[in-house]
Amino acid sequence: MLINNWYVAATSADITDTPFGVRMLGLDFVLYREPDGTVRCMTDVCCHRGGALHRGQVKGGCIACPYHGWEFNGSGQCTKIPAMGDDVVPPKRARIDTYPVQEKYGLVWAFLGDDEEANRPSIPDWFEPFINSPDWRVVRYNYVWTDTNWVRLGENSVDTSHPSFVHKAFGNRLSPKANIVPITETQYGATLTRERAAPPLANKSGAIAKILPKDRKTTRVTIQWSMVGLTEMLYQEMTSEITQVLFSARTPVDEYNTRSFGFQARNFLMEPEYDADRLKGLFAAIEEDHNIVRFVKPKLTPKSTTEEFLIEADGMELTFRRKVQEWARTRGVIDGERLAEELKHQVQVLASPTRKADPKGWVHRAVPRLDVPADIRAAE
Ligand code: FES
Ligand SMILES: [Fe+2]
Repeated sequence: MLINNWYVAATSADITDTPFGVRMLGLDFVLYREPDGTVRCMTDVCCHRGGALHRGQVKGGCIACPYHGWEFNGSGQCTKIPAMGDDVVPPKRARIDTYPVQEKYGLVWAFLGDDEEANRPSIPDWFEPFINSPDWRVVRYNYVWTDTNWVRLGENSVDTSHPSFVHKAFGNRLSPKANIVPITETQYGATLTRERAAPPLANKSGAIAKILPKDRKTTRVTIQWSMVGLTEMLYQEMTSEITQVLFSARTPVDEYNTRSFGFQARNFLMEPEYDADRLKGLFAAIEEDHNIVRFVKPKLTPKSTTEEFLIEADGMELTFRRKVQEWARTRGVIDGERLAEELKHQVQVLASPTRKADPKGWVHRAVPRLDVPADIRAAE
């Protein structure tokens, strides 16, 4: 799983003065909100004897471990060890790793890695025009993709030829031939625009079926994605007036489960009473994808492209795999399967920027990174 990336840990509403535990990249984290509104994200494992901080309490700007009451401030430094008495200043080594946090789109993004601020990429701002605009009605969702590896999910969501088969409401089995269009690569992702055959109107259910013209031939789709936050935006122009925009960010829970947070914006049927109808359609599509990807084999993407039979229509998926490899090589990756095994008998913690700046004097070992040789390419 990739490190030195921003991942959505929770929604902003989730984070209060009650500790919130969340698993990301196969590791446990705790988040909480300080009285001034600042959100903190840190390892969930207490450096004393491994207490789970998310089971503790927030006290002012600190979090107190439920086991022996050690208190850690927002920088991860222990400020109080009750068993040593109030007059003892805890040693510097009594500290835990903490991670930078940003709130954007009403989501809490944690930077999971140790890169200094200048090297941290920006969270995509593509969804900004839609989030608080009177021209768009936005609904949000989150979803746990059980039994689904994050790369497998990424491949599915950039895949332009599966809708004909998987999605009844917007694919068209009678016209499955892929429209091969140029892919434009960006620094951390790619984008393309293509027309796809519209499904028969009879396949549409819900309120949208009543407003779409009967003679509609195509949907114009633009897909744009980035490795930063594992984000993706899909513009679906059903007619020149009827457009739906989907934005999502994905967070690996571990190597085999993935959580997504997203939004659907629409410029039609803007009244709130249509929200449930639109969400129903969205979840139907998500479940159609989930019922494909969780059964794909192998569970993790093959290391070599010769283990599959790839065709030209798979271009976006190959671009995605290549960007994953580039990130792994240049910014860092951890071996989720090995980590899960090692965590059974030893605490390992993702190295934070504070640890990188001051590497000596930490109780817990840092998760080892995987070396990715420069000549390994997942996709040629
Ligand atoms: S394990 Fe956290 S205070 Fe003892
Ligand atoms: Fe899909």
